[in-house]
Amino acid sequence: MAEFTLPKNSKIRNKGKVHKSEDGTNIKNFKVYRYDPDSGENPRYDNFEIDLDDCGPMVLDALIKMKGEKDPSLTFRRSCREGICGSCSMNIDGKNGLACTTAIEDIKGDVQITPLPHMEVIKDLVPDFTHFYAQYASIKPWLQTVTPEPSDKERLQSPEDREKLDGLYECILCACCSTSCPSYWWNSDKFLGPAILLQAYRWLADSRDEMTGERLDELEDPFRLYRCHTIMNCANACPKGLSPAKAIAETKKMVAERQI
Ligand code: SF4
Ligand code: F3S
Ligand code: FES
Repeated sequence: MAEFTLPKNSKIRNKGKVHKSEDGTNIKNFKVYRYDPDSGENPRYDNFEIDLDDCGPMVLDALIKMKGEKDPSLTFRRSCREGICGSCSMNIDGKNGLACTTAIEDIKGDVQITPLPHMEVIKDLVPDFTHFYAQYASIKPWLQTVTPEPSDKERLQSPEDREKLDGLYECILCACCSTSCPSYWWNSDKFLGPAILLQAYRWLADSRDEMTGERLDELEDPFRLYRCHTIMNCANACPKGLSPAKAIAETKKMVAERQI
């Protein structure tokens, strides 16, 4: 794949430069978490000096350059490069985010990159999503109905009902929110966490779904739902600007309302 490179006089590229090397290039230092379970060694940080004059503007561009030109063993996930697939989520300069939509110029000084916090690490920047995906599967993330399917048309939804899914359907399951939530850090075995709870609410809010009661039964639990203590880190961390905290509040409201 061709690497995107900004022109030499680009304002974007030159705004965040840190220091000039002897040959006049703009060098930025990246401190990258490394861990290889097969080596038997403890995790460490590796430093990579990247010439910003010869690199695209995003953190993912720098990682691809490190892997392509300096250390092919550096391991990270990425696919779309457009903030859509959710695979390049990691902790950049102390904040969870997507490497492909985080501009290098927005980070002052060295760029420290670690895997998403509080997840098992498979290698380098690759966390193990097995448990996260199992939790996702547990909420049955598909349309469930009991009435017979209309023979001549799709199950229709009014524009107003469709609008209720805005702010929910855009979730890319990157886990930036869940791995920024202290309740999820300590209780991820039982608490579903903000990402999965937002996804659960996406089906509760869908006018076509006919399993609302059963879905609420599954969620109404001291851990699965109620370990959310409104800490709000999730809304702050979401790179898509979504608010899992709001979805969780709506779910709690639905549980409360059906008890009246
Ligand atoms: Fe990622 Fe936002 Fe979805 Fe959480 S709500 S998984 S941060 S896109
Ligand atoms: Fe965690 Fe968000 Fe609730 S940070 S505690 S899920 S409001
Ligand atoms: Fe797809 Fe970053 S590579 S979201």
